[in-house]
Amino acid sequence: MKHLIDIMDLSVGEISELVDTAQDIIAHPEQYAHSCDGRKLATLFFEPSTRTRLSFEAAMYELGGHVLSVPGGNTSSAAKGESVADTARVVSCYADIIAMRHPKDGAPFVAAQSSLIPVINAGDGGHNHPTQTLTDLLTIYREKGRFDHLTIGLCGDLKYGRTVHSLINAMSRYPGNRFVLISPEELKLPGYVREEVLEANNIEYAETADMEEYMPQLDILYMTRVQRERFSDEQEYLRLKDSYILDSAKLEKAGPDMCILHPLPRVNEISVAVDSDPRACYFRQALCGKYIRMALILKLLRENDGVPAGSRVIPSQKRLVNVLRCRNPRCISGVEQELDQVFVLTDPKKNTYRCLYCENEAEETPQPGNANS
Ligand code: NCD
Repeated sequence: MKHLIDIMDLSVGEISELVDTAQDIIAHPEQYAHSCDGRKLATLFFEPSTRTRLSFEAAMYELGGHVLSVPGGNTSSAAKGESVADTARVVSCYADIIAMRHPKDGAPFVAAQSSLIPVINAGDGGHNHPTQTLTDLLTIYREKGRFDHLTIGLCGDLKYGRTVHSLINAMSRYPGNRFVLISPEELKLPGYVREEVLEANNIEYAETADMEEYMPQLDILYMTRVQRERFSDEQEYLRLKDSYILDSAKLEKAGPDMCILHPLPRVNEISVAVDSDPRACYFRQALCGKYIRMALILKLLRENDGVPAGSRVIPSQKRLVNVLRCRNPRCISGVEQELDQVFVLTDPKKNTYRCLYCENEAEETPQPGNANS
């Protein structure tokens, strides 16, 4: 069985296949109107959402299927203290596929371990958001006609912006792409993405706090909201929230074909006047979200047919089990009942490890002899 927890769960070939299916659905929606007759999608959203939840639900309805929904975490048994693993195991009895959004990094990964049906990560804490990335990819393909040789500016909250982490992972797999990381010092891209994705793959990137510096070179400008809900200090959020506001004056420096993307919701990072600029693609992007999720539901349900239930393949690198503790306060491993603390070796020379669930680096180094494969 296949789950979608991380965008890297899909090969480049599978991404192309999904984009092709989505394009075919856009051209011939009637041919897909009964593809999921009698099948059920459970949407388990333990965090606010408009686009992601509704586009998943609209996608399932347009495929002829049904939706079971727990729209707010506090109306489900999670509010009574049920573990993510138990919730997933139980929902597997009622539905054919799960889309889960959760405030804790790594929660859908944990759900996938105990689920008997495919689990889709619809956003986990400040970590990943692979279906937003599929949405972004379909939009980029429709606007630019390719995934390679693009200069991509990512602007705003690169630290907590889960859509940014997944998009960098995805776009790093295509040749010739370059990244411009635009953020205040406090909201820079996490080290594990910069080092293990960009640097490990020799991908060209620049970091700047100045939104306009690289504007003329950009093919894509991906704007993001400062993620208020991830800040422990409200004053820090208030100080940083208006770091970047894209307006018509700033756009004068941009090329005529630059594509402006935003996963939405917008708070005030893009002035409303920009909406009528032909380069503004973010509302078309929101529509792409429904079609690519239709393609994804179809793929996961088809691949699950007749295949016995199993859990996600766990990476085979060296691991430490219950030796280190994850210090990330947003990691699922800090709250889930009886969940092993698992760390994966990332650099044997430096003896560095990262948490299996949230990917944050271990703050301590294990003692020799403690590592178990
Ligand atoms: C994003 C998210 O939830 O991470 N929204 C979305 O899914 N379209 C971005 C955000 O909330 O800022």
